Amino acid sequence: MRQYLDMKNKKNQRDGKTISIWQRPMMQPPFSEDILNSVYDAIIVGGGITGLTTAFNLQRAGKKCILVEAKNLGFGTSGGTSAHLNTFFDSSYPEIDSNFGKEASKAMATASKRMIKTIQANIDELNIEADFEYKSGFLFSQNEKETQQLDEILSSSKAAGVMVEESGDNGVPVRFLKAIEFSNQAQFHPLKYIDGLARGFLSLGGRILENTFIEEVKESHGLHYATGGAMEIQGRNLIWATHIPPGINLLSLRNAPYRSYVLAVKLNNETYPDCLSYDMQEPYHYFRSHEIDGQKYLIAGGEDHKTGHEDSEDAFRALEQYITANFDVLSVDYKWSSQYYVPVDGLPYIGLLPGAADGTFVATGFNGNGMILGSLAGEILSDLILGRDNDLSVLLSPSRLKPLSGLSDFVKENADVAYHFVADRFGSELLASLKSFPIGEGKIVKFQGERLAVHKDAHGKVRALSPVCTHAGCIVNWNRVEQSWECPCHGGRFDIDGSVITGPPKTPLKKIEVPHR
Ligand code: FES
Repeated sequence: MRQYLDMKNKKNQRDGKTISIWQRPMMQPPFSEDILNSVYDAIIVGGGITGLTTAFNLQRAGKKCILVEAKNLGFGTSGGTSAHLNTFFDSSYPEIDSNFGKEASKAMATASKRMIKTIQANIDELNIEADFEYKSGFLFSQNEKETQQLDEILSSSKAAGVMVEESGDNGVPVRFLKAIEFSNQAQFHPLKYIDGLARGFLSLGGRILENTFIEEVKESHGLHYATGGAMEIQGRNLIWATHIPPGINLLSLRNAPYRSYVLAVKLNNETYPDCLSYDMQEPYHYFRSHEIDGQKYLIAGGEDHKTGHEDSEDAFRALEQYITANFDVLSVDYKWSSQYYVPVDGLPYIGLLPGAADGTFVATGFNGNGMILGSLAGEILSDLILGRDNDLSVLLSPSRLKPLSGLSDFVKENADVAYHFVADRFGSELLASLKSFPIGEGKIVKFQGERLAVHKDAHGKVRALSPVCTHAGCIVNWNRVEQSWECPCHGGRFDIDGSVITGPPKTPLKKIEVPHR
């Protein structure tokens, strides 16, 4: 009950210190003790668009579901997306053609159109004020090489059945050589949408448990027993809607974690785009507008890089320079970053989790298309559990992953390079050596032959942790912007106290005792 009271007092938080334009008070799911005394048809772990769409679909089809979220609804990538709804993907149709064949491109194109309609239908059915609007989407080249790629994208997209044409405009005041226009793209407010899905799910009898980090799942006689803190929940199926499921599994190897950066700015003029628009640089930049409380904002993103591999401040600086070079910026009102996962072969992994107990499902590898692919995951996973056909369940099955002979080597390899941390406390000489350590900073420091992940907060309090990631032993890096420790291997993220913010790690970084004086 105490946990529930804490939860009720909590405002919507996100998995970083930066504030996204979407953050707002979210609905507070009611708690009652009987929530734990049931056997559910499905336990859905993760309160983002994937989890809530799946939960809503299953509950609406008559299943009895519980959604469990480690923090609050929209805490992860759904609260940090730029919320574009497209009929094309970060993996272009020429890439899908070449990796999976033209029929796969057609199936993905059809699914993307269906998902935009599904989101709109959910908004209508549940009366959600989610700022949904259809827009054109422009993709434009800025040099000959990009123009050649654009021509290939145009022809493959048309062959896949996407509505797209060459255009004389790119929708934004950015120099371009050639542009193509995708019809019937859309945008919306992601947190208003998932808030509405959550309300719809609850009104159908679904249950939501926030602030509960699932630490362990055991299976016995066809039931999954998921435990987090003092809670134990039982269900016939278990869905990891957390991107990468916790622990060591193939999906950690087949999806690279990336961070993406977004700014929301006010302009000195009215050049707010009335469209979605994308350049083709690497990494690419993208634009759209959104009105929040009567104020228009240009939302522009890009400068993506692998998590833990580059400096977030540099990425924000480069993004701001790119925007100010092309728009007359009055003020930068929001800046935030978010994490997504790039699948090795270009398509997401949605379905049964290979190597796990029967009835264990996963959805990940959405690249930068999480709103469409998270919704599609909700459709496919609910169809699989309901025993319905879904024409994408084979194409996107995670078992298309060839078993890697190296899975055990993966653990070993990393363990070989990992630093073996032995100490768990230091004397006051550690504190003395950190006297000039900057306030608000985090850094890996060497002390008495050990490496430590050290952070000093605004009040001068020093926290020291083992820098060895508890997933597979890589060394974490400090992200100054999001004030978190990030693992460069599989994207695990930790708070300054060592607690897990983002899986696949299940356990916190080891705390090192530091004397206070
Ligand atoms: Fe895998 Fe850190 S997330 S080693």
